[in-house]
Amino acid sequence: MAKLAVFDAYGTLFDVDAAARMAATEPGAGALAQHWPRLSADWRRKQLEYTWLRSLAGAYADFWQVTQDALDWSLDAAGLEDAALRARLLDLYRRLATFEEVPEVLRAMQAKGIRLAILSNGSRDMLAEAVASAGLEGVFDAVLSVDEVGVFKPAPAVYDMVGARFGTAPADVLFVSSNGWDICSGAAYGFRTLWVNRAGAPMDRLHGAPNAEARDLRALPDMIGGA
Ligand code: LAC
Repeated sequence: MAKLAVFDAYGTLFDVDAAARMAATEPGAGALAQHWPRLSADWRRKQLEYTWLRSLAGAYADFWQVTQDALDWSLDAAGLEDAALRARLLDLYRRLATFEEVPEVLRAMQAKGIRLAILSNGSRDMLAEAVASAGLEGVFDAVLSVDEVGVFKPAPAVYDMVGARFGTAPADVLFVSSNGWDICSGAAYGFRTLWVNRAGAPMDRLHGAPNAEARDLRALPDMIGGA
C-alpha cells in the first residue's frame, strides 16, 4: 500500500475556474459577467497548449509567464482586453480557491501518516502562494515545481522528481490528477494512479490508463490508508 500520495495542483486541488468566476461577480465586471465560462475555458486550454508547445520546442518559460500569455490570448479572443481586468484575473489566479473537499481530505490523510506532495507545472512562487492562501501550509512534505527541470508535464523528467525527492519507486507512489493526459502519462510512467474526473470527461486515448477513477477526493483516505 502506497504511503506517499502526490497531487497535481491546478484543476486537482485548486479550482482554475475560480478566478474568472469570482471576477465575473464583482462590480464593473461588464461583459465578463456573461462570458466568463468561455474565457476561463480558453485560458486553461491555451495555458496547457503553451506548456506542451514550449516543451516540444525546447523553449521553457515558467508557468506564470505561460499563464499570462494564455490569458492575453483569451482576453483578445473575447474582445475583453482591459488592463484592470487582466490584473484582477491574475491576482485572483495567485490565490485560487481549493475544491471544497480538499483541505479535509488532505488533513485526514496526514493524520493517517501518509506523506503528501504536490507535483505541478506551477512555478515555485505560484505554488507557495496558492498553498499559503488556501491555509495548507505544513500539510505537504514537498511541493515540487517543474522549475527544477525546465520542462513541463508530461515529460518523464517531471515524474522523475518524485523518486529523486523521496527515494521511492514509481509503484510506491499514488499519483492523483484531474487532468486525463497527466494521469495517463503518470500511469505509463509506473505510478499507481487515481484520476479525479471532476468534469465527467471521457477517458483520454493515450499511452497509459489510470488504476482508479473518482469524481472528487473524498474516497482517497480510505483507498490509500485502509490496508
Ligand atoms: C499542474 C497542471 C497540469 O498543476 O494543472 O501541473
